[in-house]
Amino acid sequence: NLRSGRSDSIGLVVLDVTNPFFTEVAQGVEDVAAEDGLAVVLLNSAERSDRQRRSARLLAEQRAAGAVVMPVDGDTADLLWLRKQGVSGVLLDRGDVGPEVACSVSVDNLAGGAAAARHLIGLGHERITFLSGPEGLEQCRTRLQGLREGLAEVGIDPEAAVRVVHTAQLNAESGEKAVEEVLAGGPGRRPTAVFCANDQLALGVLKGLGERGLSAPSDLSVVGYDDVAPASLVHPGLTTVAQPKYELGCAAMRLLLGELHDPDHTHERVRYTPELVVRGSTAVNR
Ligand code: RIB
Repeated sequence: NLRSGRSDSIGLVVLDVTNPFFTEVAQGVEDVAAEDGLAVVLLNSAERSDRQRRSARLLAEQRAAGAVVMPVDGDTADLLWLRKQGVSGVLLDRGDVGPEVACSVSVDNLAGGAAAARHLIGLGHERITFLSGPEGLEQCRTRLQGLREGLAEVGIDPEAAVRVVHTAQLNAESGEKAVEEVLAGGPGRRPTAVFCANDQLALGVLKGLGERGLSAPSDLSVVGYDDVAPASLVHPGLTTVAQPKYELGCAAMRLLLGELHDPDHTHERVRYTPELVVRGSTAVNR
């Protein structure tokens, strides 16, 4: 056993098991865990705090050696609670804890938003809708801020250029439902582009456009976020801000192993930069 009295399993608490983003992260966690003979127990919080809490209790009861946690609403209380119970925990993707508290792995959401902005500006888009997840999701706010800063850098007033539409969830159904509101664009300003807070939303938008006899990029340029596998399988392919999903999972698991094997280990903060992948869903604004 890695730590006396602990099992040879670690918990991976993901936010939405139906989203391929989390599948790729899980693959990375699992590959690195397997090298060390550890089993990964998958727990799905389904973006619900009560389920996250229950997962933490279960892992503590089962004496898991450690946990990789993607916290609901960035709330790190359950991760901190687990650590107090002697379950080493690494924070992944959302939320923030200082390196004095735990290791963490994240991607620069500000840079991601700015990359989308540069791409859309280059294509001549100055009326952009940001299709966000639920209000209050810090990650969405930071991606939006990146978009605004990217526009401001080239002298475009973000207040005038960007309209924000919120959805109930970061899933395709919410994206599909939001199309009407995205296209409405507010008085006298139908957008020429939509930047979605994740690919699930963007894929839903592509579907919703099709249902109205419209399509990307001729009626609306569409940009997603994540670069999940379906982004390159749909037609047109989805232009998106790619996150290193598999690497995120590997890095989180390596940090966890570092902590499990070395009692004198110092916590690290690993941060990746996302990269824009240009496909067919965006085009020059004519
Ligand atoms: O698609 C799911 C989103 O939530 C991703 O963008 C990822 O960053 C996660 O937190």
